[in-house]
Amino acid sequence: MSLKGRAVLITAGPTREPLDPVRYLSNSSSGKMGYALAAAARRRGARVLLVTGPTALAAPSGVRAVRVTTAREMLAACLRALPGTDLVIGAAAVADWRPARVSAGKLKKRAGGGAMTLRLTPNPDILAALAARRTGGRPRLVGFALETSERLARARDKMRRKGLDMIVANGPEALDGDRSTIDVLLPDGRRWSRSGTKAALADEIVQAAEALG
Ligand code: CTP
Repeated sequence: MSLKGRAVLITAGPTREPLDPVRYLSNSSSGKMGYALAAAARRRGARVLLVTGPTALAAPSGVRAVRVTTAREMLAACLRALPGTDLVIGAAAVADWRPARVSAGKLKKRAGGGAMTLRLTPNPDILAALAARRTGGRPRLVGFALETSERLARARDKMRRKGLDMIVANGPEALDGDRSTIDVLLPDGRRWSRSGTKAALADEIVQAAEALG
Protein backbone atom coordinates (compact mmCIF):
# COMPACT_ATOMS: atom_id res chain seq x y z
CA MET A 1 0.00 0.00 0.00
CA SER A 2 1.56 3.29 -1.06
CA LEU A 3 0.86 5.94 1.55
CA LYS A 4 0.33 8.60 -1.11
CA GLY A 5 -3.05 10.20 -0.38
CA ARG A 6 -3.78 7.69 2.43
CA ALA A 7 -5.07 8.71 5.87
CA VAL A 8 -2.56 7.91 8.62
CA LEU A 9 -3.28 8.35 12.32
CA ILE A 10 -0.32 8.53 14.69
CA THR A 11 -0.44 8.76 18.48
CA ALA A 12 2.54 10.36 20.21
CA GLY A 13 3.90 11.59 23.51
CA PRO A 14 2.86 10.78 27.05
CA THR A 15 -0.60 11.17 28.55
CA ARG A 16 -1.14 13.06 31.78
CA GLU A 17 -3.60 11.83 34.36
CA PRO A 18 -4.63 14.53 36.83
CA LEU A 19 -4.65 13.97 40.55
CA ASP A 20 -5.72 17.48 41.50
CA PRO A 21 -5.62 20.86 39.72
CA VAL A 22 -1.81 21.07 39.93
CA ARG A 23 -0.56 17.44 39.95
CA TYR A 24 -0.63 14.53 37.52
CA LEU A 25 0.75 11.05 36.80
CA SER A 26 2.73 10.74 33.57
CA ASN A 27 5.94 9.32 32.11
CA SER A 28 9.08 10.63 30.43
CA SER A 29 8.05 10.17 26.79
CA SER A 30 9.29 13.14 24.72
CA GLY A 31 7.07 12.42 21.71
CA LYS A 32 10.10 12.51 19.39
CA MET A 33 9.49 9.13 17.77
CA GLY A 34 5.79 9.79 17.12
CA TYR A 35 6.53 13.21 15.62
CA ALA A 36 9.32 11.71 13.48
CA LEU A 37 6.85 9.07 12.25
CA ALA A 38 4.33 11.79 11.38
CA ALA A 39 6.99 13.65 9.37
CA ALA A 40 8.07 10.42 7.64
CA ALA A 41 4.50 9.49 6.67
CA ARG A 42 3.95 13.04 5.40
CA ARG A 43 7.11 12.80 3.27
CA ARG A 44 5.61 9.69 1.66
CA GLY A 45 2.51 11.65 0.68
CA ALA A 46 0.09 10.59 3.44
CA ARG A 47 -2.57 12.79 5.01
CA VAL A 48 -1.39 12.64 8.60
CA LEU A 49 -3.32 13.23 11.81
CA LEU A 50 -1.11 13.37 14.90
CA VAL A 51 -2.98 12.81 18.16
CA THR A 52 -0.49 13.94 20.73
CA GLY A 53 -0.20 14.17 24.48
CA PRO A 54 1.66 17.12 26.03
CA THR A 55 5.11 17.58 24.42
CA ALA A 56 7.50 20.47 23.81
CA LEU A 57 7.52 19.74 20.05
CA ALA A 58 5.96 21.63 17.14
CA ALA A 59 3.88 19.55 14.72
CA PRO A 60 5.82 18.72 11.52
CA SER A 61 4.77 20.88 8.59
CA GLY A 62 1.80 19.57 6.66
CA VAL A 63 0.66 17.44 9.61
CA ARG A 64 -2.62 18.11 11.41
CA ALA A 65 -2.18 17.83 15.18
CA VAL A 66 -4.84 17.31 17.82
CA ARG A 67 -3.52 17.97 21.31
CA VAL A 68 -4.94 15.94 24.17
CA THR A 69 -4.03 15.44 27.81
CA THR A 70 -5.45 12.19 29.20
CA ALA A 71 -5.65 8.64 27.81
CA ARG A 72 -9.42 8.93 27.63
CA GLU A 73 -9.15 12.11 25.56
CA MET A 74 -6.61 10.38 23.30
CA LEU A 75 -8.98 7.45 22.82
CA ALA A 76 -11.91 9.76 21.98
CA ALA A 77 -9.81 11.67 19.39
CA CYS A 78 -8.66 8.38 17.81
CA LEU A 79 -12.19 6.96 17.66
CA ARG A 80 -13.41 10.15 15.95
CA ALA A 81 -10.66 9.82 13.34
CA LEU A 82 -10.97 6.06 12.81
CA PRO A 83 -13.52 5.99 9.94
CA GLY A 84 -11.57 6.32 6.70
CA THR A 85 -8.17 5.81 8.34
CA ASP A 86 -5.86 3.44 6.41
CA LEU A 87 -3.02 3.07 8.91
CA VAL A 88 -2.65 3.67 12.65
CA ILE A 89 0.74 3.86 14.35
CA GLY A 90 0.49 3.91 18.15
CA ALA A 91 3.69 5.54 19.37
CA ALA A 92 2.18 7.22 22.43
CA ALA A 93 3.29 6.19 25.91
CA VAL A 94 -0.25 5.99 27.25
CA ALA A 95 -0.53 5.96 31.05
CA ASP A 96 -1.91 2.55 31.98
CA TRP A 97 -3.62 3.89 35.11
CA ARG A 98 -5.20 7.12 36.29
CA PRO A 99 -6.05 8.29 39.80
CA ALA A 100 -9.44 6.82 40.73
CA ARG A 101 -10.50 10.19 42.06
CA VAL A 102 -9.50 13.66 40.88
CA SER A 103 -9.60 16.16 43.72
CA ALA A 104 -11.33 19.45 42.86
CA GLY A 105 -8.97 21.33 45.16
CA LYS A 106 -5.24 20.94 45.75
CA LEU A 107 -4.60 17.92 47.98
CA LYS A 108 -3.20 19.00 51.32
CA LYS A 109 -0.60 17.37 53.54
CA ARG A 110 -2.13 15.64 56.52
CA ALA A 111 -1.42 16.96 59.99
CA GLY A 112 1.54 14.94 61.31
CA GLY A 113 2.93 14.27 57.77
CA GLY A 114 1.46 10.76 57.43
CA ALA A 115 1.72 8.55 54.33
CA MET A 116 -0.63 9.08 51.43
CA THR A 117 -2.21 6.19 49.47
CA LEU A 118 -3.24 6.68 45.86
CA ARG A 119 -5.92 4.49 44.33
CA LEU A 120 -5.49 3.98 40.59
CA THR A 121 -7.96 2.72 38.02
CA PRO A 122 -6.98 1.21 34.63
CA ASN A 123 -7.11 3.38 31.52
CA PRO A 124 -8.57 2.08 28.26
CA ASP A 125 -6.13 0.46 25.85
CA ILE A 126 -6.31 2.65 22.76
CA LEU A 127 -4.80 0.28 20.20
CA ALA A 128 -6.86 -2.66 21.46
CA ALA A 129 -10.02 -0.52 21.23
CA LEU A 130 -9.19 0.45 17.64
CA ALA A 131 -8.40 -3.18 16.77
CA ALA A 132 -11.79 -4.28 18.13
CA ARG A 133 -13.57 -1.82 15.81
CA ARG A 134 -11.85 -2.56 12.53
CA THR A 135 -13.38 -4.42 9.64
CA GLY A 136 -11.63 -6.51 6.99
CA GLY A 137 -8.22 -5.90 8.56
CA ARG A 138 -8.48 -2.11 7.97
CA PRO A 139 -6.92 0.08 9.13
CA ARG A 140 -3.54 -1.56 9.47
CA LEU A 141 -2.35 -1.28 13.08
CA VAL A 142 1.24 -0.80 14.18
CA GLY A 143 2.15 -0.66 17.85
CA PHE A 144 5.20 -0.06 19.99
CA ALA A 145 6.36 -2.13 22.93
CA LEU A 146 8.47 -0.54 25.61
CA GLU A 147 10.13 -3.33 27.55
CA THR A 148 12.81 -3.43 30.20
CA SER A 149 13.42 -7.20 29.87
CA GLU A 150 12.49 -10.17 27.64
CA ARG A 151 11.91 -7.58 24.93
CA LEU A 152 11.20 -9.86 21.96
CA ALA A 153 8.97 -12.41 23.69
CA ARG A 154 6.93 -9.71 25.41
CA ALA A 155 6.60 -7.64 22.22
CA ARG A 156 5.43 -10.70 20.27
CA ASP A 157 2.85 -11.45 22.95
CA LYS A 158 1.67 -7.80 22.93
CA MET A 159 1.29 -7.90 19.14
CA ARG A 160 -0.95 -10.98 19.43
CA ARG A 161 -2.98 -9.73 22.40
CA LYS A 162 -3.71 -6.35 20.78
CA GLY A 163 -4.32 -7.81 17.30
CA LEU A 164 -1.55 -5.74 15.64
CA ASP A 165 -0.07 -6.13 12.13
CA MET A 166 3.41 -5.10 13.27
CA ILE A 167 5.14 -4.14 16.51
CA VAL A 168 8.23 -2.06 17.17
CA ALA A 169 10.05 -3.05 20.35
CA ASN A 170 12.40 -0.70 22.16
CA GLY A 171 13.81 -0.07 25.61
CA PRO A 172 13.46 2.73 28.16
CA GLU A 173 16.52 4.50 26.67
CA ALA A 174 14.25 5.32 23.70
CA LEU A 175 12.04 7.61 25.78
CA ASP A 176 13.96 10.84 25.45
CA GLY A 177 17.09 10.84 23.23
CA ASP A 178 17.33 11.47 19.49
CA ARG A 179 18.58 7.95 18.74
CA SER A 180 17.14 4.55 19.46
CA THR A 181 17.51 0.83 18.78
CA ILE A 182 14.43 -1.01 17.60
CA ASP A 183 13.36 -4.57 16.84
CA VAL A 184 10.50 -4.80 14.36
CA LEU A 185 8.37 -7.95 14.56
CA LEU A 186 5.71 -9.27 12.21
CA PRO A 187 3.01 -11.85 13.03
CA ASP A 188 4.57 -14.38 10.60
CA GLY A 189 7.78 -14.47 12.65
CA ARG A 190 9.90 -12.13 10.51
CA ARG A 191 12.05 -9.74 12.53
CA TRP A 192 14.71 -7.08 11.95
CA SER A 193 16.71 -4.69 14.13
CA ARG A 194 18.14 -1.23 13.54
CA SER A 195 19.93 1.52 15.45
CA GLY A 196 19.91 5.12 14.33
CA THR A 197 18.37 8.52 14.66
CA LYS A 198 14.65 8.58 15.30
CA ALA A 199 14.20 10.30 11.92
CA ALA A 200 15.99 7.46 10.09
CA LEU A 201 14.17 4.78 12.10
CA ALA A 202 10.84 6.49 11.44
CA ASP A 203 11.48 6.30 7.68
CA GLU A 204 12.16 2.56 7.96
CA ILE A 205 9.11 1.92 10.13
CA VAL A 206 6.84 3.82 7.74
CA GLN A 207 8.23 1.89 4.75
CA ALA A 208 7.68 -1.39 6.60
CA ALA A 209 4.10 -0.29 7.35
CA GLU A 210 3.58 0.42 3.63
CA ALA A 211 4.81 -3.09 2.85
CA LEU A 212 2.03 -4.55 5.04
CA GLY A 213 -0.19 -4.04 1.97
N1 CTP B 1 -1.08 1.55 24.22
C1 CTP B 1 -2.37 2.03 24.01
N2 CTP B 1 -3.18 2.27 25.09
C2 CTP B 1 -2.74 2.00 26.35
C3 CTP B 1 -1.45 1.49 26.56
C4 CTP B 1 -0.63 1.29 25.47
O1 CTP B 1 -2.76 2.25 22.85
N3 CTP B 1 -3.56 2.24 27.37
C5 CTP B 1 -0.25 1.28 23.04
C6 CTP B 1 1.04 2.07 22.97
O2 CTP B 1 0.86 3.26 22.22
C7 CTP B 1 1.97 1.11 22.27
C8 CTP B 1 1.48 -0.25 22.73
O3 CTP B 1 0.12 -0.06 23.14
O4 CTP B 1 1.83 1.16 20.86
C9 CTP B 1 2.24 -0.91 23.85
O5 CTP B 1 2.48 -0.02 24.89
P1 CTP B 1 3.33 -0.47 26.16
O6 CTP B 1 3.33 0.64 27.15
O7 CTP B 1 4.63 -1.08 25.76
O8 CTP B 1 2.50 -1.69 26.70
P2 CTP B 1 1.24 -1.83 27.58
O9 CTP B 1 0.07 -2.14 26.73
O10 CTP B 1 1.13 -0.64 28.47
O11 CTP B 1 1.58 -3.16 28.40
P3 CTP B 1 2.56 -3.37 29.67
O12 CTP B 1 2.32 -2.22 30.59
O13 CTP B 1 2.09 -4.68 30.20
O14 CTP B 1 3.96 -3.45 29.14
